[in-house]
Amino acid sequence: MMGSCVVPVLIGLVLLQMHKISECHKIEVTPDSGTIVVFTKKPDQDLDCDVCKDEGPSQSCNSKLDLAEARPTIVTFNCSQPGDVFTVEINQKIDCSATACSIIAVHPDSTRFLEFNRTFNWDLKVQSSHMFQLDFPAPGMRQIKPSESCPDKHTYTIITYQRSGPNSIGTFCRNGTISRIQALFKGRVSLEVPKDTALNPSDFKVSIGPDTEALVVVDVKLPRGLPSVEFFTPNYGTGHYSEDKMKWNFAVEPMQNFTVLFQHYTPPACQKEKVLVGYALGDKTSFTTDPKDIQPFNKQGDFSLTLTNCEAKKGSNGLSLNINVTVFRGGTPYFCTVDLRNEEGLSLQIENKNPESSCEMSLNSVAQEKIVVPAGTKADLSFLDCPVQDLQLTATKTIDCPSASSRDTSGTSLTIPTLDPSLHVPLHQFTWLLRVLDPGTVDLTSPIKVLHQSVPDKECNDRVSLLISETDGSNIGQFCSLAEGTIQKIQIKGNVSITVTPKTIKDLSQEKGSFLKVAMSPEINENVIYTVSPSVSGPMYLATPNWPDGLNPSSSVTWIVSVPQEHKVELQFTNVSKPVCDSGHTEVAISPLDPQGQTQSWREDQIFVNTVIQQQSFFLNVSNCEPKSGSFAVLSKVTLYKEAKNFLSIILAVVGVLLLLVIIALIVVCVILKRKKKPMTNRSSIFLPRGKPFLPGNATFPKSRADNESHVYASIDDSTMYGNFADKNQPAEVDNRPWSNGHQVDAYHPFTGPSDSTPSAKDSSAEYSMDGRGGDRDAYQPFLSPPNTFNLARPRSPLVSQGSIRFEDRRMIDNELHTFKSFGDINPIRLSADESRLQPQMGSDTDSNTEPEYEEAI
Ligand SMILES: *[C@@H]1O[C@H](CO)[C@@H](O)[C@H](O)[C@H]1NC(C)=O
Ligand SMILES: *[C@@H]1O[C@H](CO)[C@@H](O)[C@H](O)[C@H]1NC(C)=O
Ligand SMILES: *[C@@H]1O[C@H](CO)[C@@H](O)[C@H](O)[C@H]1NC(C)=O
Ligand SMILES: *[C@@H]1O[C@H](CO)[C@@H](O)[C@H](O)[C@H]1NC(C)=O
Ligand SMILES: *[C@@H]1O[C@H](CO)[C@@H](O)[C@H](O)[C@H]1NC(C)=O
Ligand SMILES: *[C@@H]1O[C@H](CO)[C@@H](O)[C@H](O)[C@H]1NC(C)=O
Ligand SMILES: *[C@@H]1O[C@H](CO)[C@@H](O)[C@H](O)[C@H]1NC(C)=O
Ligand SMILES: *[C@@H]1O[C@H](CO)[C@@H](O)[C@H](O)[C@H]1NC(C)=O
Repeated sequence: MMGSCVVPVLIGLVLLQMHKISECHKIEVTPDSGTIVVFTKKPDQDLDCDVCKDEGPSQSCNSKLDLAEARPTIVTFNCSQPGDVFTVEINQKIDCSATACSIIAVHPDSTRFLEFNRTFNWDLKVQSSHMFQLDFPAPGMRQIKPSESCPDKHTYTIITYQRSGPNSIGTFCRNGTISRIQALFKGRVSLEVPKDTALNPSDFKVSIGPDTEALVVVDVKLPRGLPSVEFFTPNYGTGHYSEDKMKWNFAVEPMQNFTVLFQHYTPPACQKEKVLVGYALGDKTSFTTDPKDIQPFNKQGDFSLTLTNCEAKKGSNGLSLNINVTVFRGGTPYFCTVDLRNEEGLSLQIENKNPESSCEMSLNSVAQEKIVVPAGTKADLSFLDCPVQDLQLTATKTIDCPSASSRDTSGTSLTIPTLDPSLHVPLHQFTWLLRVLDPGTVDLTSPIKVLHQSVPDKECNDRVSLLISETDGSNIGQFCSLAEGTIQKIQIKGNVSITVTPKTIKDLSQEKGSFLKVAMSPEINENVIYTVSPSVSGPMYLATPNWPDGLNPSSSVTWIVSVPQEHKVELQFTNVSKPVCDSGHTEVAISPLDPQGQTQSWREDQIFVNTVIQQQSFFLNVSNCEPKSGSFAVLSKVTLYKEAKNFLSIILAVVGVLLLLVIIALIVVCVILKRKKKPMTNRSSIFLPRGKPFLPGNATFPKSRADNESHVYASIDDSTMYGNFADKNQPAEVDNRPWSNGHQVDAYHPFTGPSDSTPSAKDSSAEYSMDGRGGDRDAYQPFLSPPNTFNLARPRSPLVSQGSIRFEDRRMIDNELHTFKSFGDINPIRLSADESRLQPQMGSDTDSNTEPEYEEAI
């Protein structure tokens, strides 16, 4: 039956113009359709002033003027201040008895007639079997005594018209606990606003209510923290005479107790029956009382109160009652004391995280939204109706770090201090603020295990998570202590905050162990330095601080990545976001720990290589510019590989060397024998063919190093040097020393013996010469003496010391056959500490080829 007929209620569009003509006041009024504008002269008004409609001959003047037609009408008052004499009523009818009305929003929308007292009247009518319903948006309405007025000068009154006559339901102000009023089928809502008060628009909604239940039903929502609310029976003051029912429904917040008090009760002079008070409580109990009895007190839950009046004798008292409902906290508080005087720098915070909860906390008897117990104090706390799971306890401990130079080098362990056990709140977060007063660096290490940085590809899944931040608010990252972690140490310049939060546990106060060890060291240039040891068990990720957000402007970070012996590291830049720099450039640089080492670096305007192989420990330095736009963030993946060790090839290589020794011994013997036969013959020479070295048994080199051949190049032209990079990928700063994949090159220095005095195996061709470059590097000098054509060359200890560059082979001087410079692929043997890098050398050439050639030469 609630049809969809929406009756537009438009009150305000009343156009009006004013002209002041001497003692006259002229306005133009156009009532909205459906509204009637009425000017009424205040009775007993001394001032002689009339209101006139229209102008000219048709003008009619009176003490009252009704304007119903929706057309502009000239209205004149023959006094200058008509607002002192006249009031304006703007009346509208909302009739839902013939057509079914759904909800109608009523906006009194007029700032006109400001110089008059205004009354907006809405006359409501529904079928006589129903109630009309008024819904007030939050905050609702508050009932006042009819003699009072509202603080905002917007006073509402509600009247119902019954057969017995009009009944005043009450006088109301905005901002109260009443959310809905239902009254019998016919009534009027009035809003009075005095002159010179701007109308503050406030809507209410009109709809057809339920079947007749009572003369009036008032719905009330009692909020928390409101001491008491008052309600008045209809016709309060003058008395209610007819046999009617009135009902109040109260919604009470959980954990609140209510008490009902009847004040100023005037009993009616009942003809028969008597006044009855009925209660229905939330727990479904219901009972009746006499208005003079004690009403319910200290109860919980929603309830409704029904007051049934008797038929009172006219001329004597009617019913008049003031109902006072008080609400208050129902629970009993929990008290505890927190004493922080013995824990230096420790402060506590307790917050209620459930906005719905009725929890009330207080600190030293003062109610608080959030409890803060400052460091070094003692406080009495109380909690009222606070479920422990709604509360969050966070603690902060400020530690002043000693300066790096102080003798206290033992470092501090970060452990959670024992909190007062009477404080039952689970510890949700613990923060250490490490304050560095002298310039210095905070060194963080894990006391038991190593650290792991949580990145999307490899997240922490520990009991707790550690957030390490610089105290300017930027985070370095989220870490956890893990057995398979890879971060040995994190060094941070300046003040640091470390926040531990539970991940798989609930309460941090159960964590008794040490989370991190803190030590101080002298100030570093970077903002952060990580010392990391990748492990072969899986890749590790190096994320710039604040990942996936960018590095702070102009800040820098270094990773010291250690690569163990016989291992290599593959470094991939898996996710790089680059800014547009305002000043300076970003830089990513890779350099061996050896300060002599080769640096590869890239700026934001260059394309990064995908993969870099490192065979020795190295620095990865990343620094940001002052970005104009965008941000600089680098995520790199580090994978450690054990270099493949082929035992078979080592054995074969050793066998080859032994074989070679035997052959050479034979050759030597032969030569000696032949010399003995032909002592003047001096034609010995060795022919070392260009080309691949031959290894006995077709053995491969025992290390994968053979693949990158970095040690093979006797001289490296640019295309070889930068073979790993497309032209535009060239490192920004490349010194001209030979390198390949960033590890050392065993530079080969051909024999360039003194050319002035003796003809020698000099070859000035640049192809084989690295003269003047990298001379301090793993120099290898060739040698000429046949007995020396094999050798176990050691990097950094050139054998040339025996056969210095002044070495001359007497045989060579006389010999036209200068074949010794053809040593295209010389493979020096590295003898590393554990000898496992033993490699056969060019002895293999002599092994297979030299002998026949040699024989021939001889
Ligand atoms: C206003 O007009 C009425 C009737 O026309 C007249 O009685 C009254 O004296 C006038 N008042 C003034 C102040 O002019
Ligand atoms: C306007 O309202 C005030 C109180 O709100 C009253 O004192 C005054 O007499 C009224 N003026 C007229 C003309 O009704
Ligand atoms: C509503 O009333 C409460 C007290 O009853 C008051 O604290 C609050 O300021 C009022 N709000 C408005 C908008 O008037
Ligand atoms: C309601 O009753 C309580 C208790 O007697 C009283 O403190 C309070 O002032 C009363 N409220 C009103 C609005 O009268
Ligand atoms: C609030 O009401 C409950 C239930 O009626 C009662 O147990 C409790 O004691 C009351 N609280 C106070 C403070 O009286
Ligand atoms: C660390 O914080 C303290 C106090 O907040 C401040 O005085 C000091 O300068 C900060 N140290 C650094 C290196 O920023
Ligand atoms: C790079 O990291 C960001 C932030 O975590 C992520 O949204 C994006 O998908 C990543 N891109 C690649 C290619 O992994
Ligand atoms: C990288 O950082 C380390 C440690 O501070 C420093 O020694 C090295 O010189 C830096 N390398 C480059 C290329 O800036």
